[in-house]
Amino acid sequence: MQDSADLVGGVGGGHLDGLVEGLVRDSFAVSPGFAPLSLVRALRKEARERDRLGEFRLAGIGRRQDYQKDTRIRSDRTCWLKGDTLAQCQWLEYMEALRMAVNQSLFMGLFELESHFAIYGPGDYYQRHMDAFNGNNGRLLSVVLYLNEGWQSDWGGRLRVWPGPDATSIATEVEPRAGTLVAFLSEKIPHEVLAATHERYSIAGWFRCNNTTADWLDPPR
Ligand code: OGA
Ligand code: MN
Repeated sequence: MQDSADLVGGVGGGHLDGLVEGLVRDSFAVSPGFAPLSLVRALRKEARERDRLGEFRLAGIGRRQDYQKDTRIRSDRTCWLKGDTLAQCQWLEYMEALRMAVNQSLFMGLFELESHFAIYGPGDYYQRHMDAFNGNNGRLLSVVLYLNEGWQSDWGGRLRVWPGPDATSIATEVEPRAGTLVAFLSEKIPHEVLAATHERYSIAGWFRCNNTTADWLDPPR
């Protein structure tokens, strides 16, 4: 029963309540085993293949004219999802289930999802940051799915989470283990990716509200 999402109310069914509860209480939530291993493996395989084909780029920060590549702040490489493989479609189905659950319970008005694969090589990091400020980019809810099987605690690579914008002591740290999903409010939760000794695969995504227009988009992909 436990590992069959279909038997507990559809895609992600057994995990959605806990995620919503965490978001209400703490503005963030962690859900180990959110995605089945078969999907995690397919997504990691795809990320590896796309990397081999040279489809990953050094990640950027900021938007439009502020867009820059500053490896002092982050040094990972990313590749945007376009929804054109079976594995990506399955990921998007899980995220659609989460979107509906959050909108029903929190009235957040989540509209569209943008997401990318990310690869952090050994030593790569992403310093403390928030994914949105005062609605500047329409990002409301951030999600991260980890794709690393057999991850060891002493490899590092944890996601460090603070409980609020001005917090100085941390709320928790999350290990990037296969199938774990993290969700948090993009404008409220500072977070940081600690350097790892091994390659670290993930998908990061952002649900946005519906207030973007054609000349107010992400930097070129
Ligand atoms: C990001 C991010 C977290 C992670 O891409 O903005 O914070 O654990 N990622 O990969
Ligand atoms: Mn982030």
